[in-house]
Parts: sequence; structure tokens; C-alpha cells
Amino acid sequence: MNTRSCRSLFLFYCCLLLSIIPCILTAESAWNGHTPPGSSTRAPFNSYYVPPGAKEYHCTSPLIQYKGVWEYVYSSRFIRNVVRATRQKQATATLRISGDCTGFEWFGNCAQYYGSAKMSVDQKLLSVVDTGCNSTTPRPGQRLFATYSLNLTAGYHTVTIESLGDGIIDLNGLVLTCPSQTSSPSISLPTPHQQPRSDTPGWTLTQKGSTGVNAMQLAVISETEAIVIDKVEHNSLTTENGTPAWASLYNLKTHDVTPLNMQSNSFCAGGSFLSNGTLINVGGNPVVSDHTSAADFGDVDGLQSIRLFENGIMNEYHNAVRMASSRWYSTTVRVGDGSALIMGGSKKGGWINNATTNNPTIEFYPPKNIQGSNGLPVRSSFLVDTLNSNLFPIAFVLPDGTIFVAANNDAMIYDWKTNTERRLPSIPNGVRVTYPMAGTGLLLPLSSDNGYTPEVLLCGGSTVDDKKPGYEISSQDPASDQCSRMVLNDEGIKAGWSVEHMPEARLMPDAVLLPTGQIVVVNGAGSGISGYSNVPDPVGMSNAANPVLTPSVYDPTAPAGSRFSSEGMPMSNIPRMYHSIATLTPNGDIMIAGSNPNLDRSEIAYGTEYRVEWLSPPYMQSGRPRMEVHKTSIGFGEAFCVELPELENIQLDEIRVALMDLGFVTHAVHSNSRLVYLDVVREGTSGSTLCFKGPPHGGVYPPGPGFLYIVYKGTPSEGVKIMVGDGNGPPVDHGALENMLKSTQVDQYEKSKTGTTKDDEGSE
Ligand SMILES: *[C@@H]1O[C@H](CO)[C@@H](O)[C@H](O)[C@H]1NC(C)=O
Ligand SMILES: *[C@@H]1O[C@H](CO)[C@@H](O)[C@H](O)[C@H]1NC(C)=O
Ligand SMILES: *[C@@H]1O[C@H](CO)[C@@H](O)[C@H](O)[C@H]1NC(C)=O
Ligand SMILES: *[C@@H]1O[C@H](CO)[C@@H](O)[C@H](O)[C@H]1NC(C)=O
Repeated sequence: MNTRSCRSLFLFYCCLLLSIIPCILTAESAWNGHTPPGSSTRAPFNSYYVPPGAKEYHCTSPLIQYKGVWEYVYSSRFIRNVVRATRQKQATATLRISGDCTGFEWFGNCAQYYGSAKMSVDQKLLSVVDTGCNSTTPRPGQRLFATYSLNLTAGYHTVTIESLGDGIIDLNGLVLTCPSQTSSPSISLPTPHQQPRSDTPGWTLTQKGSTGVNAMQLAVISETEAIVIDKVEHNSLTTENGTPAWASLYNLKTHDVTPLNMQSNSFCAGGSFLSNGTLINVGGNPVVSDHTSAADFGDVDGLQSIRLFENGIMNEYHNAVRMASSRWYSTTVRVGDGSALIMGGSKKGGWINNATTNNPTIEFYPPKNIQGSNGLPVRSSFLVDTLNSNLFPIAFVLPDGTIFVAANNDAMIYDWKTNTERRLPSIPNGVRVTYPMAGTGLLLPLSSDNGYTPEVLLCGGSTVDDKKPGYEISSQDPASDQCSRMVLNDEGIKAGWSVEHMPEARLMPDAVLLPTGQIVVVNGAGSGISGYSNVPDPVGMSNAANPVLTPSVYDPTAPAGSRFSSEGMPMSNIPRMYHSIATLTPNGDIMIAGSNPNLDRSEIAYGTEYRVEWLSPPYMQSGRPRMEVHKTSIGFGEAFCVELPELENIQLDEIRVALMDLGFVTHAVHSNSRLVYLDVVREGTSGSTLCFKGPPHGGVYPPGPGFLYIVYKGTPSEGVKIMVGDGNGPPVDHGALENMLKSTQVDQYEKSKTGTTKDDEGSE
């Protein structure tokens, strides 16, 4: 077979299958296919090597953007069995990368008849790469280009591979080295520069900053930034295209706000980080042309969206990355293997859920094969039985890997591996805790002190009958002041829920864990239900009224009856009703934002609220310990040790290390919110080495990002972002993924509206 016969991609594939072991050449580098990395012995290998801490972008990653014709070529000799190949002049593959990255490597095949490509960074030519090599058949897994001195400025950049059209070029994967993510382990824990004062001033509330878009959804993404996500509406902030923004990045230090481009309508999405740190934003709304004036922008159906927030931008590719089914008001949690479990929701927008609109199923991103589901949603009878008030279920991963779920007046423990539900006692006194009778929930702090025994707390909500039509419900119907708490082991479940009461009743409260283990309850209304324009006596458009303006604090370890207090709490003058949020910040205070019980931006009571408030616990003003973590990841069970001379004079139990997931917050649901106290030990001959250990496994803390706070005598340091686990992406079941893409429709709701398609309602 001569090289000419391989000139078409079809024949190229044949050549590849016919080729035997690539010929051995002399004096080639460790990367060229003949010397396994780390070895000096020559042997064939056809696998590119991803050093620890480096990031791999396989050619199938949705984050690589292709322009022009790039075919898929399959062979078991390629990493993950596929490369993308082109012979078209000016075809490009582009990846957005962070300025931290110093190394960039391109892997693919080479052969005599292969062509060249231009490599550029931010459209500036870096190098012309010839991917030809002395082989008559394609030689896989070759490092075609590498640089370890990218010299980038802070921020984001693009790297582009552009085919010159003089032969085939292909791409199996790109590997990035970004040293700030891989630096050597070291921690310094200076002594608190000042002992905590006993006469601390109390709690304070200050108003500063604007979110630019309504803070319907919020997640802290780094020590300095939070992402704010809204629905398509006429917000004050505009994107570079000149249309109103519906997402923004909020700088927690400078209070600057930057618009973030979105494609589809993210009303009312949920979200989660994955184990590789990518944030996904899940679900949303159809195009709103028929009932709001927001029709001139945001005209992409968001119901099946999985938006990947990566390297500063929101990426959306519904053909390759999406849900199997439509979901509005679904909940997303990161499970023990680092993937996202997506639960419930409605098949279209509306108000309260019902049997017609219900989507009583669970699916995963990346898709999984659960009991033969092969990437498709699995049915949950709990989500049928909990109709109508069951949107945005409250869910937390438990240390044994199962999931606690509360919806409406009920709760269960869900084992996603076997798709089995264990029903728990109903929530006492008929209290409903999920939309539109929204309460809130938290998993109480986990630690080895009690063997990581999980305990949940549900607070607020409503006892209004969820089978009543909206016109029989009043904005003045009282909310519930009840908190229900249960230990989730056999004994605890047998003992059932224990009931306590908040100082004030609240619908749509937000409960925020502090590194100290206390819980702050803020926001919400004293009466009514969630949503807008459904009750006969709305306030403005709001179904809820009587805003609760004073926060309260709950100490889960205090004796029952004396856990709640609002004493000395500052009162706000900003109602935080439907579509508001609160979160702990890395700084240690509480960010409070949002409120918008309106179809579109509005100035009527209760208007669209952009102002941000900061609730500051007393510890913010006392001498705080400090922590510097140069290592940015911690493995399961891995020890972190630090020399701390002062330790000799300190009681070990005065120090706690809190690993926290600040969660993805929306609609009073604090998805993934978590506090795990890490085991702390004293080491070294003089006892001056402090060691703490990563969580034991992904049930205790699902792999992914978190913040570490060191708490000394009840005063926390600022939080430091850390990756828990190996930073790898969740497992990808390619069979399940392909089957899901093949057997489901893209944006099926939007298609069902074109008239010819039969309405999919009633199929459940
Ligand atoms: C190319 O490989 C062949 C054997 O496969 C060898 O005879 C020839 O010398 C090589 N050419 C170069 C330029 O290395
Ligand atoms: C980065 O800087 C180093 C030293 O100044 C230089 O040798 C190297 O070529 C630069 N790399 C790039 C990609 O510009
Ligand atoms: C179910 O909810 C949808 C959306 O709110 C609504 O259009 C429909 O009329 C409801 N169906 C029933 C039977 O109430
Ligand atoms: C993280 O994993 C997800 C799921 O496989 C993937 O879509 C995403 O591109 C990954 N992120 C990075 C940075 O590789």
C-alpha cells in the first residue's frame, strides 16, 4: 500500500486498521510513541500521557470548538477510540484556556502524508507544526506540538490549531499544564495575630454592591468571584451584544459586576460543580415569546440545557451536551463519583406541578447506565406520590452514598445505584417544604466524632393545601415556623422527626452553614406561597407577603428549645422574597441578594432587587486565624501537615478544620451545601506538627471543589479554595451517552410547539 492510497479519510481509516506495530526509529523523544513516559526502555505505546495535575481535553470535549469539516475517525488504537480529523484548509479547533496555564500539548496521529497546521495563541502565530512523520501508516498517540512557556497574562486566552490543507491533520487530545493547580503541598498556619476578643461587637448588616441581574441562582466559584444567574428579562446590566444580561460574575472583593453571555433561558435552572471543577447549570425555561416582552432576545429553549461554565464562559452545545428530558425546577446534586444527579422538575414552565407536567424521573450528567437505563431517565414513584408541591426537591448526598430527598410533605432515602427508594416518615404537622410551599433544608455538619452520622434539618414552608387552585390561596396564608430534624440511621428514623420552632415563620427562607457549625436563617416571607400572579390578593405580583427582615441563628449542638436566637440581629429594610438567595462567602460573612416575584424586571412592590447585603457574624471583627494553602487539592484520606510551634501551648480541640461546599443556591434550595470537619491530629516529637486529613471518601464529601476554613476557638479563618479528590472528571459511560443522544430529541419542547408534532403532555 503506498502513501497515495491513503489520501482519503476513508482509506486513511483502512490503512490504520491494516497497519501493524509502527516501525521503530532511533533517537526519538519519550513522547513519540516508542518510550513509555517515565521509562528509558523502548517499547511501543499508543497512549498519550497526562501527568498528575495536568488537564486533558479529549477531542470529544464540548469545550473544544471546531470550525470547518472535522470528521470522527474511530479505532481502538486511539485514546478513547476516536480522533477528529480534517484535510480542509483553514479548518480550526479552538480551546479557551486560563492564563495560569504554562504548558500546552497537542496529541494525534502522524504519517508521511500528514499535513501542517498553524498554532496560535489569541490569534498570534506561535508555530507552524508539520504533523508528517516517517511512517507509511498513521502512528497514534503522538505528541505533535508542545510548549511549556506560554507566558500568558492573567485572564483567559484562546489556543487555535488551523489546518493548512496540505494533508490530513488530526486531534486526539490536548493536555494543559497549569501549575497553580499543581504546586507542591505546603501550608502555613500563623498564630492568630490577636486572640479572639470576648467583647466582640455583634452581628452587622451592610449594603454594598449590585448584582446587575436578579440573583435567582448563585454559586461562589472562587475566593473572589460568584456567578449569578437569572432568567431572560430586562435587567439593567447589558451584554456586549447590547441585550440585557441574564447572568453575571460578581467580584466579592471589589464588588464589580461583569455581564456573562448565556444562550438559552436559565429560568429556573439548578446547578452543581462536577468533580473536575466544571460548574454545570441545568434545565430552564422554553422561549418566552408568547407571554413576555423579553422575546427579542434569549430565544433558545433551556428546558434540556446543560450549560458548562468553564474558563470564564458559559458553554452550551445541545447536540452533544444536554439532558434526555425537559426539566423546569429540577434539583441537581453531585454524587460520590463526581457526576451530577438531576432529579424531578416539570416538563414545561408554569406554576405548581401537576400530573400532566410532572417529570418524575432521575437522570445523570454524564449519563449513566442504571439497571439497564442506558443513559435514559429512570422513574421515581416518590416524585409521583409527592405531587403537587414537589418542585425543586431538597436533596443531600449521605455518607453511605445514598441521597436524602424531601419533597412536599414527604422524604425518602434514594439509592441511585439500584434505583430504590426508602420512604421516611412524613414531615410532621402537614408542613410542606418544597415549591411553591418552599421551606429550606440543610445537612448538619459531619465529622468522625459521630462516625459521620447524617442528620437533616428542614425549616419553614407552609401547610397550605397544595391541591387547591391558586385562586383559593391567599398571600396572607401564614407560613410555617416549624423546623424538623432527623438522624438518618435506623435508630434515628425509628425515633422520627423532632420538631422545633423558628423565632418567626418563613416561606422561602435560606439557611446558611457557618464554619463554626452554626446556621443562619435569613430571607423569606411570613405568609403566602412562592411564585407570582397566582393568588387573588397578590402584593404587586407576589404570591407572598409580610417579608421577614430579621435573621436568626441556630446552634444545632445547643439543647433543644434554646437553639434559635435573633437577639442582637440587625434588621434589614430590603424584602427578600421569591427569587432571592443567601450564601456563605470565602471571607466568612453572608452574602444576601435577589428578590424578584415578577414576570419581568419591575419597580412595583416587590420590585426586582439588585442590591447586595452582607451579614457579618461577630467573629468577622475579632482576631482571626489565617491559613495559606499552597497545595490546591486534597485526596481522600490524604494527610496535610504543618509545623506550628504554638501548637505546644494549644489544646488540640481548640482547632477545627472545616471543609465546606458553599452549594448552588436557588429557590431556598442549597444544593450540595456541606460542612465536614476534617480529622485533626498532633504529630512530631515536640507535638508541634498539626496534621489534618482529607475526608475518608466521596460519600462524606463528593469529589469536587470546596473551601477550607480553619476555626480557632470558634473564630474561622478566611476560606481557601481546594479540590477534593484527584480533580478528574466524573466517569463517562460512552455507550450510555451515545444511546441518550441517539434516542432523544434536542430541544423537544420547542419542537413540540411547531404544531405538527403531537403535544408530549400526558405521556407520564
Ligand atoms: C524512513 O523509514 C525507513 C524505514 O521505514 C528508513 O529506511 C528511512 O531511512 C527513513 N527515512 C528517514 C529520513 O529517516
Ligand atoms: C516565553 O518566554 C520565554 C523567555 O522569555 C521565551 O523563551 C519563550 O519563547 C516564550 N514563549 C512564548 C510561547 O512566547
Ligand atoms: C398543569 O400545569 C400546567 C402548567 O402550569 C397547566 O397549563 C395545566 O393546565 C395544568 N393541568 C392541570 C390538569 O391542572
Ligand atoms: C469535566 O467533566 C465534564 C463531564 O465529563 C466535561 O463535560 C467537562 O468538559 C470537564 N471539564 C474539563 C475542564 O475537562
